[in-house]
Amino acid sequence: MDAGNLLNLKNQALAVISEAETKKELSELKVKFLGRKGEVNQLLKNLSDLDPDQKAQTGRLLNEAKTAITQALRQKTLKLSPAPRDWLDVTAPGKTFPSGHLHPITQAIEEVSRIFERLGFTRVRYPEVDWDWYVFEALNMPEDHPARDEWETIFIDAEENKKMGKMVLTTHTSNGQVREMERAGKTLPGKTPIRMLNIGKCYRRQQDRTHTVMFHQFEGLVVDRHIGIPDLKGTLNHFAREFYGPKARSRIRPFNFRFTEPSFEVDFSCVHCLGRGCRFCKSGWHEVGGAGLVHPNVLKAGGLNPKVYSGFAFGWGIERCYTLKPGLNLDDIRLLYSSNLEFLNQF
Ligand code: PHE
Repeated sequence: MDAGNLLNLKNQALAVISEAETKKELSELKVKFLGRKGEVNQLLKNLSDLDPDQKAQTGRLLNEAKTAITQALRQKTLKLSPAPRDWLDVTAPGKTFPSGHLHPITQAIEEVSRIFERLGFTRVRYPEVDWDWYVFEALNMPEDHPARDEWETIFIDAEENKKMGKMVLTTHTSNGQVREMERAGKTLPGKTPIRMLNIGKCYRRQQDRTHTVMFHQFEGLVVDRHIGIPDLKGTLNHFAREFYGPKARSRIRPFNFRFTEPSFEVDFSCVHCLGRGCRFCKSGWHEVGGAGLVHPNVLKAGGLNPKVYSGFAFGWGIERCYTLKPGLNLDDIRLLYSSNLEFLNQF
């Protein structure tokens, strides 16, 4: 055995290892070259026949060959192995995780809040299950008054309170008017005018394409000295422009509410024809809700002197005014509460 043989053996081994295509082939090659009866060991056995000088030199070469073959086998095995699980390719494009978004009505509530907060209104919340007193009686609607029929009320099966009457699911956010006067009235004299924005859930016994049993209203209430209709008109126009676009306008028409005097219905110009009249709106306007100057009896119920203070109030449904936005020609508002992701994902 000489150095040339050894070199041949090493090169031959490295060549066949690099050409191996399966792990099975590799393990066969391992036995063939490095196994107990393998080629390297065969040569090792012959070492004892050599003289000491040759013995040392050949031994070293044999060890080198053994190391080279072992390494080649290991590398090739790695190449043929599938990537381990925790392997990380930092250049791979990232995985995007599905992300949700706020419900369209929550988005509308936030937008409405922002518009009024910039005018100095403070958002408040009042009970969604409230006494008859705050929902009707204190708003100048005594028991058995026919005006109450407008609000298709759902009553709670609970004990009646002597002063406050029955408990109801709030039919409108106007229940916040007298509650806010009671809260703020103590600081009112001279100092803090009321600029309330009450947004809450309302409930009425009505369900069709334009009504859901549960819906949301927002209610504005401003009380101070010398508040009049121009203040109301300015506020409504400001809201129209901010919510529907710079060309939008508001319009008020005489109406009757027991808790405002005078009372109005509020319309916004149609976003498609800007008030000229089109297929979508017919008249050029969309009716959204009610407004008026706070009735003296309501101020009194809230503990304020109507000779000193006056105010305006307005209120209507978030769903209604949201679905009038440009591009949102929703013909069935029940869809908003259908939990249908295919529908909701569009917003
Ligand atoms: N609460 C009335 C409704 O639900 C709207 C309204 C609010 C009217 C404030 C006048 C003043 O229809």
